[in-house]
Amino acid sequence: MAFGDFQNEIYFNGLRGVVPTMPVSFAELAERAQAAMPPSVWSYVAGGAGDERTQNANVAAFDRWGVIPRMFVGAKQRDLSVELFGMTWPAPVFMAPVGVIGLCAQDGHGDLATAKAAARTGVPMVASTLTVDPMEEVAAEFGETPGFFQLYTPTDRELAASLVERAEQAGYKGIVVTLDTWVTGWRPRDLSTGNFPQLRGHCLANYFTDPVFRAGLAQSPEQDPQSAILKWIQVFGNPLTWDDLPWLRSLTTLPLIVKGICHPEDARRAKDLGVDGIYCSNHGGRQANGGLPALDMLPEVVAAADGLPVLFDSGVRSGADIVKALALGASAVGIGRPYAYGLALGGADGIVHVLRTLLAEADLIMAVDGYPTLKDLTPEALRPVSV
Ligand SMILES: Cc1cc2nc3c(=O)[nH]c(=O)nc-3n(C[C@H](O)[C@H](O)[C@H](O)COP(=O)(O)O)c2cc1C
Repeated sequence: MAFGDFQNEIYFNGLRGVVPTMPVSFAELAERAQAAMPPSVWSYVAGGAGDERTQNANVAAFDRWGVIPRMFVGAKQRDLSVELFGMTWPAPVFMAPVGVIGLCAQDGHGDLATAKAAARTGVPMVASTLTVDPMEEVAAEFGETPGFFQLYTPTDRELAASLVERAEQAGYKGIVVTLDTWVTGWRPRDLSTGNFPQLRGHCLANYFTDPVFRAGLAQSPEQDPQSAILKWIQVFGNPLTWDDLPWLRSLTTLPLIVKGICHPEDARRAKDLGVDGIYCSNHGGRQANGGLPALDMLPEVVAAADGLPVLFDSGVRSGADIVKALALGASAVGIGRPYAYGLALGGADGIVHVLRTLLAEADLIMAVDGYPTLKDLTPEALRPVSV
């Protein structure tokens, strides 16, 4: 079934008087998610760094590009499938790591719901280090869909190695090392309410279940949660340098992908040091305000990656955005906040709805505009919008 067929399903249901219970537009999705989420969770998820200029610019950057329609192409069948890291994905789309996704679900188990949505859609989940449920339990829900583990590299190398080894054992198919978050960016929305979920002990299951982490505690996290949280604060953020990359590379034979790369020189250097993929992202503008939209850096990063896969996220809100990021050279496009909102509204069903909506729109744009395959989507398909 083509992704675009989702619209037939909706219209045919409409004939029976059944209309979608979940929003179809991002604006309505965000509005209803806000109403459904506790204010502290909403502000943590929706908020970003500084006055959120970079976060907003990420979204606005997509409006500056337009897809040129081509006619007489007969793009009746589209093929969005992509070969990545030795696997075939049904579409070049994945769920970006969202550390508090666990808390976004009404039942507090959003990591499991996200993994279930990955199983149902074939859209891979990148599971954060910061989860409510341990990575093994998350991986158990992936079904046939490959899953990736996102590592926040702790200062303790032994703990880092343990987390990666557990991910390998649990069946994750790649390790995504996030580079831009060894310290939390300045986030006024959360600062004004003194709200930082992890300090309240949320989303630390991967640490609290880890044998290396536990061995460093006088009492178990169950007996003495406060000390365990203090220990977590000490080990969480590792300001990595290039000298650490060979060590990170040595931790795993799984595909190693580095997240947060926006400068072409960094992409080149990471490639030279043996990573398998570059992940161009500015963390959705959550980490440093005053930056460029990640999309603006994508073409240069793609050129520097010189054939290495380039994953991309930051600001993707629609199927049109997916198409544009692909045309600018992304190998696959990460969805962030939209799936968190879908989860808040409808659990795993809500995420499935959001993913199907995004994929349907992308597929139908490729149909209408005459770009039937991913290789047809090149920068030639785009022009800057003049107004
Ligand atoms: C609430 C929230 C938590 C996040 N947690 C993580 C995380 O644990 N690890 C990580 O690499 N990125 C994390 N990110 C960043 C996302 O992976 C992604 O880069 C970002 O959401 C993209 O921006 P967008 O959602 O505006 O499209 C988080 C993003 C949000 C919104």
